[in-house]
Amino acid sequence: MNGSESIVEVKNLTITDSATDRVIASNISFELKKGEILGFVGESGSGKTLSMKTVVNLLPSNLAAKSDKFIVLGNDYNEISENAKKALIGKNIGLVPQNTVFYLHPMFKIKNQIADGYMLYNKKKKSEGIERAKEKLRIVGFKDPDRILESYPWQLSGGMRQRVNIALALMNDPQIIIADEPTTALDSTLQAQVLDLFKSINEKTGVSIVIISHDLGVIRKYCHRIAVMYAGQILESAPADEIFENARHPYTKALIRVIPSLNIKKDERLMEIPGFVPEKNRERKECIFKKRCSEADERCNGDVKEGIEGLHYCKCSKYCGGEV
Ligand SMILES: Nc1ncnc2c1ncn2[C@@H]1O[C@H](COP(=O)(O)OP(=O)(O)OP(=O)(O)O)[C@@H](O)[C@H]1O
Ligand SMILES: [Mg+2]
Repeated sequence: MNGSESIVEVKNLTITDSATDRVIASNISFELKKGEILGFVGESGSGKTLSMKTVVNLLPSNLAAKSDKFIVLGNDYNEISENAKKALIGKNIGLVPQNTVFYLHPMFKIKNQIADGYMLYNKKKKSEGIERAKEKLRIVGFKDPDRILESYPWQLSGGMRQRVNIALALMNDPQIIIADEPTTALDSTLQAQVLDLFKSINEKTGVSIVIISHDLGVIRKYCHRIAVMYAGQILESAPADEIFENARHPYTKALIRVIPSLNIKKDERLMEIPGFVPEKNRERKECIFKKRCSEADERCNGDVKEGIEGLHYCKCSKYCGGEV
């Protein structure tokens, strides 16, 4: 891993629903470095998908993103035109979307959609696109790419569609891959295969990867660095080992406790974090996790404090107060 060159740098991203003025994500800051695999983890509704959709310019039209800084591969998203953004993303970013069902067009055979972006952004002929698609389909484990190319998406299982999506994301040899819950539709053998594949592509080509997952076990095994999201905020981020050996935020600690494979014996009951992720006032200045936090005390009143020590960032007045 190169580890120094910044590929994506975002400061204070806020996502708002323009129809209702509801703030969905607030003050999201993160960096993706060249060659690293960055994991986003957090409960459902915490804003993982939407935060990454801003990177690929795919936010739903009712949502608005604002940021103090948004640099992708040296380009300032707050300055460049929509067309420039589209070209930059099309050529350099591969997306493996969370929802595999609607991503591929149901009316077209795979061969009539998998190479579109490649042909468009690299000015290639269809025959060249198809050859390349076969190569990428083989990489994701299809032994008979010709049959897949001749299929309609609805003729494939969820797991096969997901692998087609991954092949599609690889078509342009991107510098960044964003994989949103890339293995949810797959059985456990395929899950490991797909994640191993991401890791080996990362090691071979130095591509930077973002993996979004509910599964902290997956994130631990495959990511160099981890960002923990909760209710539209990043509460903690650090190198993977540091998160697991020295988690500071009570939310991160609770998440780690609920991973069955890591800490809980087979017949022990899985612990859950009581309560719900708040939908409202996500831009609040006080701690967003306070109501569910088993460790909250008088130090948690007032504005939440943030702290950073080396590469370890944390937002908690009790454990992480300090300089950012
Ligand atoms: N188009 C939209 N308009 C308004 N609110 C939305 C829209 N899409 C998502 N949301 C809301 O934004 C919040 C964050 O959604 P997001 O999909 O980013 O969460 P997530 O962390 O990816 O969750 P999951 O783990 O379930 O995929 C949720 O509360 C969701 O209801
Ligand atoms: Mg999501």
